Amino acid sequence: MPEYPIEPFRIKSVEPIELPSPEERDRLLREAAYNLFKIPAEKVFVDLLTDSGTGAMSQEQWSALMLGDESYASARSWYRFEEAVQEFTGMPHVIPVHQGRGGERIIASVLLKPGDRVVSNTLFDTTRANIEAVGAEGIDIPCPESADIASDYPFKGNIDLERLRELLVEKPVRLLILTLTNNTGGGQPVSPENVAEAARMAREAGAKVMLDICRIAENAYLVKERHPDYSDRPVSEIVREMISHADLVSMSAKKDAIANIGGFIATGDEDLAQRFRAQLILWEGFPTYGGMPGRDMDAIARGLREGVSESYLAYRIGQVRYLAERLREIGYPLIWPPGGHAVYIEAGQLLPHIPKDRFPGQALAIELYREGAVRTIEVGSLMFGEHATHEFVRLALPRRVYTKAHLDWVVETARRIYERRNALRGYRIIWEPPVLRHFLCKMEPA
Ligand code: F0G
Repeated sequence: MPEYPIEPFRIKSVEPIELPSPEERDRLLREAAYNLFKIPAEKVFVDLLTDSGTGAMSQEQWSALMLGDESYASARSWYRFEEAVQEFTGMPHVIPVHQGRGGERIIASVLLKPGDRVVSNTLFDTTRANIEAVGAEGIDIPCPESADIASDYPFKGNIDLERLRELLVEKPVRLLILTLTNNTGGGQPVSPENVAEAARMAREAGAKVMLDICRIAENAYLVKERHPDYSDRPVSEIVREMISHADLVSMSAKKDAIANIGGFIATGDEDLAQRFRAQLILWEGFPTYGGMPGRDMDAIARGLREGVSESYLAYRIGQVRYLAERLREIGYPLIWPPGGHAVYIEAGQLLPHIPKDRFPGQALAIELYREGAVRTIEVGSLMFGEHATHEFVRLALPRRVYTKAHLDWVVETARRIYERRNALRGYRIIWEPPVLRHFLCKMEPA
């Protein structure tokens, strides 16, 4: 039996959850047109849709909310937020935004123009959509080791340095974006050498270097665990070392800052910061709040420090590993080794009888809800269309929220589905919006 880490906290406040009946789950799936985003949250028993904004705040974060200063300009909360971000990133200029994609939109509008090329280990969906919205092109070049999901290679989040070299000589690249951990590539960590080398190559070729750091604390903890040179280094130091290679960073505070909303851009380049601020005022808010209430800035300031706590990260990463090991024992094909925030099932391998255009990942995600009211998300052909390289179902763990019994419920749900996997059917889209279709599309059984 795999080991379960002991939670480094006890529970002070609870939120009741209920299991809807099988008939109700069936009805809700039909009413939601098989789009799990449209299932009411109160009808979900274990919600693994996302780890974004869903974490449980600590008593220190809740009490920080009461200190929130809601002054429009230069509030006390802003200075506390700014200082925490500077300490976390080592970068002097901080641009607050309401959430990650708000920052991505500003970065894309300031740095990119139509036809520009952006190269990445793998872009997150909103990052890609913001790049494409200004007419630029996003190119994903994950390392070749990531194609073999079952191998033990420790840094499958890496960018392919050979391909990067070729792309840089072939035509100018405007921006390099490394996503740490590589969310859509399986929550896999990027190694410090890969960050350093990719950044050096990009800079030499005249490109700017950006890190998407929303899960950099988890990335740094995995570096500490898997890289012999880093086993004695504090996580906060590993975070700053990786950031030191970048011109700018973008963070959705809904992940490793364990907050419900918020984010920031940070940079060492004052001129760039001023150009970001000019867009910020137009779209997000004054440069000392950027769309966030003061109280949320205070919760983030505290959360950024808790997010790099090593006892917390040992529990966090251990919980993901426990779920992954139990699902692998059943026979589920998974991305291995388990990453930072989620377990990724390869539904294409699990359900080879369902073709890509009938969305095997969505078929499994729907079944996890039908069988056990467990909500997950497809990260495959439904989310990425032709850019999809795998048919993943992501089971993302909210931070500090679920216990071992909840995870065992997920495992038992998955076990029952595994036994009847050959009877699962695919789905077809009956309506979709022009961009980011997975959020809003309607489907029916094929
Ligand atoms: N970058 C990465 C790597 C992300 O995972 C996300 C969000 C964003 C940027 C955008 O941040 O949501 O604050 O606007 N990921 C969530 C998820 C939605 O479920 O993985 P946001």
